[in-house]
Amino acid sequence: LRPWARPISTAAQRLNYAFAFDIDGVLIKGKRTIPQANKALRLLNGDNPRQRKVPFVLLTNGGGMTEASKAEQISDMVGVKIDPDQVIMSHSPMQALAKKYKERRVLVVGGKGDACTRLAQGYGFEKVVTPNDVHLWNTSLWPYSQPTGEPRVNVDFSKEPVEAVMVFHDSYDWGRDLQTTLDAVCSQDGIMTTTKSDFSTQTMPLYFSNNDLVWSTDYPVNRLGQGGFKVALEGLYHTLTGQPLQSTSYGKPHGTTYAFAEQVISRQVQRQTGQVYVPTHVYAIGDNPAADIKGANAHGWSSILVKSGVFKGPGNSPLYPADHVCDNVLDAVQWALAQEE
Ligand code: G3P
Ligand code: MG
Repeated sequence: LRPWARPISTAAQRLNYAFAFDIDGVLIKGKRTIPQANKALRLLNGDNPRQRKVPFVLLTNGGGMTEASKAEQISDMVGVKIDPDQVIMSHSPMQALAKKYKERRVLVVGGKGDACTRLAQGYGFEKVVTPNDVHLWNTSLWPYSQPTGEPRVNVDFSKEPVEAVMVFHDSYDWGRDLQTTLDAVCSQDGIMTTTKSDFSTQTMPLYFSNNDLVWSTDYPVNRLGQGGFKVALEGLYHTLTGQPLQSTSYGKPHGTTYAFAEQVISRQVQRQTGQVYVPTHVYAIGDNPAADIKGANAHGWSSILVKSGVFKGPGNSPLYPADHVCDNVLDAVQWALAQEE
């Protein structure tokens, strides 16, 4: 156990711990709610012997919707009110990129319909285009599927450049989105109808909101996530150009996301206690060792691995061992609260 896991001194008289819950595989699995999730969250909302309210946030590599929409979805599924300010999506930290790309054309990849377009615009990106927009502009972009909806941007992609690619969520059309992303990254100066001749330096910035190779849904075995799309893209790019694909990633296990999450936790503590501080330790409960446990361990949080999602056991994760392993989120919360007694 990390040193701070010892009970906090009474002199502190303030709650110096908080929780960060992963969502998929911990609270829900696809359309299904994990049965122990409701009691686990109620325990932290004051439904405990000391009537103590313990600050918590939801820290997910999920995406493709606003923090408010995710809060509403989980509130409905778990039966515990979650505030949008308690939710950190995979792309939440990417809001910071809106300063740099505010008025520059960004290709936003992933998500259903125009969900990620609206999301990116809500973050302050003013010139968002999507693979579907390029597909509507020229249906020969990808001859194996049809674009959807009506043209919504007036862009001539043979003349007007794309200046960055941001994958905000899992792709709903891998083939078209792999092709369109490759077109952008391989283009001459961002013109989508050209191919550069010299690949010795990559000029197109590429961002991923998370690297989950797999994630846990209500299907009996794990499903490919955005990390699978990234591996496919990297393989295609290397095969086509002989160069490794350069990109910047957010989400768990990356440090930028944990630094962002600490600010969200601090604001949650301030809302609940009126005091401004970051709890000295955070219990991170997750199902994916490569994301939830690796990230928490690297950031000095207390990691608790549950066996209700990606990881099924036996024992602890050999690659990214957690501080504690248990069956489900309720056991995890009860174990953590017992450390604070
Ligand atoms: O797209 C969702 C998947 O990447 C995993 O989400 O909540 O387990 O971090 P989560
Ligand atoms: Mg998960």
